[in-house]
Amino acid sequence: MLSKEYSVYVNGKFCPKSEAKVSVYDHGLLYGDGVFEGIREYEGVVFQLAEHVCRLYRSAKAIKLGIPISMDEMTKAVVETLRVNKLRDAYLRLIVTRGVGDMGVDPKKCTNSTIIVIAEPIEATYGKESREKGIRVGFVSTRRDVVDSTTHEVKSLNYLNSILAKIDANEAGWDDGIMLDHRGYVSETPTSNVFMILGVDIIVTPPVTAGILDGITRRRVMKLGRDLGFSVLEKDITPFELMNADEVFLTGTKAELVPVVSISGRVIGEGKVGTITRRLLDEFGKIRKDPSEGTSVDSYKTEKKR
Ligand SMILES: Cc1ncc(COP(=O)(O)O)c(C=O)c1O
Repeated sequence: MLSKEYSVYVNGKFCPKSEAKVSVYDHGLLYGDGVFEGIREYEGVVFQLAEHVCRLYRSAKAIKLGIPISMDEMTKAVVETLRVNKLRDAYLRLIVTRGVGDMGVDPKKCTNSTIIVIAEPIEATYGKESREKGIRVGFVSTRRDVVDSTTHEVKSLNYLNSILAKIDANEAGWDDGIMLDHRGYVSETPTSNVFMILGVDIIVTPPVTAGILDGITRRRVMKLGRDLGFSVLEKDITPFELMNADEVFLTGTKAELVPVVSISGRVIGEGKVGTITRRLLDEFGKIRKDPSEGTSVDSYKTEKKR
C-alpha cells in the first residue's frame, strides 16, 4: 500500500510534501531569520490555537518581520491545512520566514515573507513509556542565550543554541538536557520548560528572565496548578534546588507533560513519577481534549474566532 503524501501550505497554495520548497535565497535558510510555532491537534481540535497564533505575531513583531496576512487568515490557513490532509490528531508547524533576499544579511532586500504550514500525524517525543517511567536528564554545558540578545522569548528559526544543548545531552547519554542561563540559574531544556514541586503544595518554574520561551503548555499547566489549589510560583531556581526537588517535570506542546526521574545522575524524589506530577498529567490529559481549550477544525467556518 502506498503511504499517503500530505499537502503543505506555502504562501496560500497547497502542494504535495515532495514538491514543497523554498528558495535557497530565503533568509529563513540563510540566516535562521524567521519565526515559527509547533502546534497540536487533538481529535479535531487545535489546542490553544489562538495563543499560538498570537505568540507567532509577537515573535514577528520583536524581530520586525511583517506578516502580510491577518491573525484570522493565519488561523484559517492552519484549519485548511488540517482539512485538506483530513487529519484529526496532528502536529503542526507554522513558519514565517523573512523571505527571499540576496546573500547579504541585510533584511531590507526581503520584501515578501514566506508562510508555510506543515501538518502530519503525531508521534510521542520521548517515546510512549516516558509518561509512565519518567526520563533521565542532565545539566548541559551550553548556556541559554541572554534575554537582551537572541532571546528565546522569540520563537525564532535560529535554534542553534538549543541544538548545541541537545548534542551535549545526546553525548552524555541523557534523554534531554537542562540548560542554565548566563547567571547559572535553571533556564529550560532545548524544547521544553522546567517545573519543580516542593513538598505537597508548591509548584515552581523559572521566570522569562531566565532566558526561557514563555511556553503555552507552561502557562496552561500553571493555571491548572492554581485551579487545583497549589501555590504556583515563577522564581529563579538554582541547580541545587532542582536536584533536591521532590518532583520535576517538563512541559511543551509536543512533549506535553513529562516526568523527570533523575538529573545528572541524582535521583529525583523516589526515582519514579511523583504523586503531584501524576495528578497534573491526568488532569492535563483531560484539558488537552476539551474542545473549549482550542479551535475546532469542523466548526471553524461558522465560529470564525474562538
Ligand atoms: C525553547 C523552548 N522552550 C519551551 C518550549 C515549550 O513551549 P510550548 O509549551 O509553547 O510548546 C518549546 C517548544 O516549543 C521550546 O522550543
